[in-house]
Amino acid sequence: MRSSPSRYAVIGNPVAHSRSPEIHASFAAQTGQALVYDRLLAPPDGFAAAVDAFRAAGGSGLNVTLPFKQQAHAYARRLTSRAAVAGAVNTLVFTGADVLGDNTDGPGLVADIRDRVGLDLGARDLLLLGAGGAARGVVQPLLEAGVSRLVVANRTPERARAMVDELRLRMDPGLRTRVSACALDAVGDGWDVVVNATAAGLSDAAPALPRRAWAGASLALDMVYGAAPTPFMRAARAAGCPRVEDGLGMLVGQAAESFALWRGVRPDVRPVYAMLRQRLAAPH
Ligand code: ATR
Repeated sequence: MRSSPSRYAVIGNPVAHSRSPEIHASFAAQTGQALVYDRLLAPPDGFAAAVDAFRAAGGSGLNVTLPFKQQAHAYARRLTSRAAVAGAVNTLVFTGADVLGDNTDGPGLVADIRDRVGLDLGARDLLLLGAGGAARGVVQPLLEAGVSRLVVANRTPERARAMVDELRLRMDPGLRTRVSACALDAVGDGWDVVVNATAAGLSDAAPALPRRAWAGASLALDMVYGAAPTPFMRAARAAGCPRVEDGLGMLVGQAAESFALWRGVRPDVRPVYAMLRQRLAAPH
């Protein structure tokens, strides 16, 4: 007799816009894995109860999106080292009574830059804009990928300093000296890569970066994605940056890492990225 398919979901609030169900359905079809993947809307104060209920109903794993990544970190019984450093979890794996928390945002970003963009992060100087939840998950993975200098620049510099101080305490000692913080308006020049992890785009703005920050930059990547270029992407192009990307590749990359963790099979991200890009361009 065939066993019923394993159950997964993305939990968040809001969650209706999430692309994760179509991404994981594509991965499952591609790799021949039998699974069901849903959206799970949890009330802001009901994360743990919703996860408990999902597990009790036989759920095997969850992706976690805003605003629950820190609560998922607290919920997990065990953490991968990258999730422990980030202080945030985007993937939960349920095995009996065990709950493993991982953060695949950083590996997803690193894989996208390496494999799709084709840029080796080794010995690069990287400017990371923003000090919120989107930024904290990617710092250690970027350093582990070989970034030689990473500066976190934020509109509110104290927030960047506090985040860097916190991450440093938990980071491998060998990586600590390569990361620092500064104010957005104090950013200097000499960056190879500029990554936008701010929420500025939500108010239709680009982070106010001095023009000198763009001198010599070879890649600008916004973690946000959409049908049209974001304000940050437009600013990068206007400043002459030769390669400008949005966050769709990172989204598919983090999903692939979660899928590999759950199923032990690594899907090919390329056809799924192409499908989503096409759907974004022509939604109807
Ligand atoms: P998330 O979890 O999505 O990262 P967050 O924790 O609210 O969201 O963080 C939002 C980030 O975007 C912060 O770094 C914020 O800067 P401040 O710490 O100074 O608030 C940044 N941000 C939001 N709007 C911005 C804007 N218009 N210009 C520059 N940075 C902005």
